Amino acid sequence: MKRAFLFAHPAAHSLSPRMHNAAFQWIGMDGVYQAVDIEPSCLGKALLRLKEPEVIGANLSLPHKEAVIPFLDEIEPVAKRIGAVNTLMRRDGKLMGTNTDADGFYQSLLEGGYQPQGVALILGAGGAARAAVHALSQAGLTIWIQNRTPSRAEHLLESMQVEGRVFATQEEIPFKEVGLLVNSSSAGLSNPQESPLTVPFPELQAGATVYDMVYKPLYTRLLLEAQEHGYNTVTGIGMLVHQARLAFERWTGQAVPASVMFDAVKDTLQ
Ligand SMILES: NC(=O)c1ccc[n+]([C@@H]2O[C@H](COP(=O)([O-])OP(=O)(O)OC[C@H]3O[C@@H](n4cnc5c(N)ncnc54)[C@H](OP(=O)(O)O)[C@@H]3O)[C@@H](O)[C@H]2O)c1
Repeated sequence: MKRAFLFAHPAAHSLSPRMHNAAFQWIGMDGVYQAVDIEPSCLGKALLRLKEPEVIGANLSLPHKEAVIPFLDEIEPVAKRIGAVNTLMRRDGKLMGTNTDADGFYQSLLEGGYQPQGVALILGAGGAARAAVHALSQAGLTIWIQNRTPSRAEHLLESMQVEGRVFATQEEIPFKEVGLLVNSSSAGLSNPQESPLTVPFPELQAGATVYDMVYKPLYTRLLLEAQEHGYNTVTGIGMLVHQARLAFERWTGQAVPASVMFDAVKDTLQ
């Protein structure tokens, strides 16, 4: 039996086992994906499991996405630029790391009806924001970023060598130029009252898209307000599904429709 893991801390509420186990079933492979709670100090030991012949790969989630880098034999350019690894593979006895979050984010954005236009405004400056900045700068968009801690946003652009603009506060942002607003901060996570906006919902460019990486709840306050104002909205569940789909394809060489993974989690979404 093939095995794959998620190493995270905490790991108990992850949707990844549902998605990957459905994918194993769909391709008819005898395999199992398991989420394992790994304390930060135990990551090195956990990675030894990837040497076992039946193990085909692993995902990493908080707080291991950056901490894993020193343990790797090779890191793909996308993960290097983002500075975070969410997918591990073994190739010729070597441990390789990549990042499928950026592609997952961009694919779900396009699927959600986004037409590239105007400036892309990213809220947040953590690992998820780095994935968004990678994808959107690759797509040629102008990047603006605002974070609760502005110095972290400055550092993000500098370390990723992106010529964007950092706003210390949201009051300063010329929102009318924004064609894409992305929440990649944790604001709103498990808190339907909370919004990443510290200003009243602003007027964006006509036809703008608002994307929220937070998918618990599925329709966050930000997305509900964006809908009320007539903007296109995209939930973060597509990113979760696509990053999983892309990781699974790297491990097995087989493409699984996103719908297979989505169907495996849809009853948990609220
Ligand atoms: N849909 C998906 O597949 C997907 C994938 C990855 C992440 N996510 C979601 O994206 C979010 C960020 O993840 P991450 O990995 O980037 O986490 P992270 O590295 O811990 O970064 C968290 C970011 O959120 C900001 N933040 C936290 N609480 C806030 C609040 N109450 N108000 C304003 N800003 C706040 C932080 O600001 P400071 O710098 O000031 O602390 C930081 O910029 C999480 O909600 C996560 O669930 C979703």
